[in-house]
Amino acid sequence: MAKAKGKTHFVCQECGAATPKWQGKCPSCGSWNSLIEERVVTTSSRDAVMRPRHTTQTLPLSKISAENMPRKQINSHEFNRVLGGGLVPGSVVLVGGDPGIGKSTLLLQEAATLSTENYKILYITGEESAEQIKMRADRLHAVSDFLYILPETEIESALNAIERIDPKLVIVDSIQTMYTSLLESAPGSVSQVRECTLKLIQLAKTRALPVFLVGHVTKEGYLAGPKVLEHMVDTLLLFEGDRDHFYRILRSVKNRFGSTREIGVFEMTENGLKDVPNPSAVFLAERQIKTSGSAVICCMEGTRPILVEVQALATATKYGYPQRTTTGMDVKRLILLLGVLEKRLGYHVGSMDVFLNAVGGLRIDEPAADLGVITSIASSVRNREIDPNTIFIAEVGLGGELRSVSHIEARLREAEKLGFQRAIIPKGNAKGLREFNNLTVIYAATAFEALQNAVQ
Ligand code: TYD
Ligand code: MG
Repeated sequence: MAKAKGKTHFVCQECGAATPKWQGKCPSCGSWNSLIEERVVTTSSRDAVMRPRHTTQTLPLSKISAENMPRKQINSHEFNRVLGGGLVPGSVVLVGGDPGIGKSTLLLQEAATLSTENYKILYITGEESAEQIKMRADRLHAVSDFLYILPETEIESALNAIERIDPKLVIVDSIQTMYTSLLESAPGSVSQVRECTLKLIQLAKTRALPVFLVGHVTKEGYLAGPKVLEHMVDTLLLFEGDRDHFYRILRSVKNRFGSTREIGVFEMTENGLKDVPNPSAVFLAERQIKTSGSAVICCMEGTRPILVEVQALATATKYGYPQRTTTGMDVKRLILLLGVLEKRLGYHVGSMDVFLNAVGGLRIDEPAADLGVITSIASSVRNREIDPNTIFIAEVGLGGELRSVSHIEARLREAEKLGFQRAIIPKGNAKGLREFNNLTVIYAATAFEALQNAVQ
């Protein structure tokens, strides 16, 4: 890299920490070869960045009204849900995800339906040309007179355009392509990303302008650029899914204006992304009723219960060490539950290969899935099918006891809605639980008791 003019320091590409001298290893996060030389922002240029646009008032909290900040509803219910009930004025939302997952598609199609005479939207693109965006918009039937496209990568010009056009919503696709001429480092470098984000945040706050930033995710699943980016924005949404499958999940990882872990489910179609209002039905759609090793569980994603099929396959180990493989579930949790099966329930799984799969692409990391996992493995070992109309909701302790889970009523309601007739849940959840019309609730104290009811 060419030596930067003026005073320089070294910035870690991983964690954003700055040091005066070059070192092979970042003193802050310990990663190797991650320090890059960058020019220090001078006081005058920093002043230009930081200078307030107008003097702000100090008010007692009781005098501050939040009523003039109504949320803007987006067309997609799933998107609104993940945002916590619509778009908050002045909020900066970072949408991260793998390349090709559909970030630009989602934002473009929502922007087009949202834009009207009274709601101008500016889409700043640093990755694609205006013509490419138009081609995509034609395909999505997302052409609107009030959706403005600006191919630009210099943040100062982009900010000028925002002042000039005065949009009600700004989309920056992507933040890694933006740069400020105040810094000499390349676009996408830590300080560039940080500086551009800072400028956009300041503009968003002073104009009460909501801003969407698109961010790239690296191979390891982290947002490219500094971790500080996550701290700076109000909301971080990750767009996930398997590019070979149609379903996409928008997950809120951080949200200053709503609950986290909330998810929205979409289907990628020929004409863009469509809401999936009932994900449980989708995840259970291809379930084979008459097979062993299949159990249905209910996991909470934010405030929403979702039913998922868990499949287990246990076969005798042919040679050497028994294998444990999972898809969409934690392998350590599987090993623990296999220990419980062996020691407390008398299943000799120590000499078996065990494969576990959460069908549909959702990642399950909730202990409430434990009983379903244990039941599906037991069913596979004994080659007996589980009643397809029963759902399993319980955490399993190391003693084989069933531990109560949160949001039991919401989970049971979802099971009833999807036509399940029986639910096996922990005894500890019995207190205060209402009766269900079409769902028989069976309470069990231990996994042993639950299995006796489930796998004959
Ligand atoms: P894109 O929004 O460009 O992804 P990102 O911005 O996250 O990189 O999505 C591109 C993918 O989506 C591409 O593989 C094609 C697919 N796609 C559809 O299946 N249907 C559509 O209507 C559109 C616009 C894209
Ligand atoms: Mg894109």
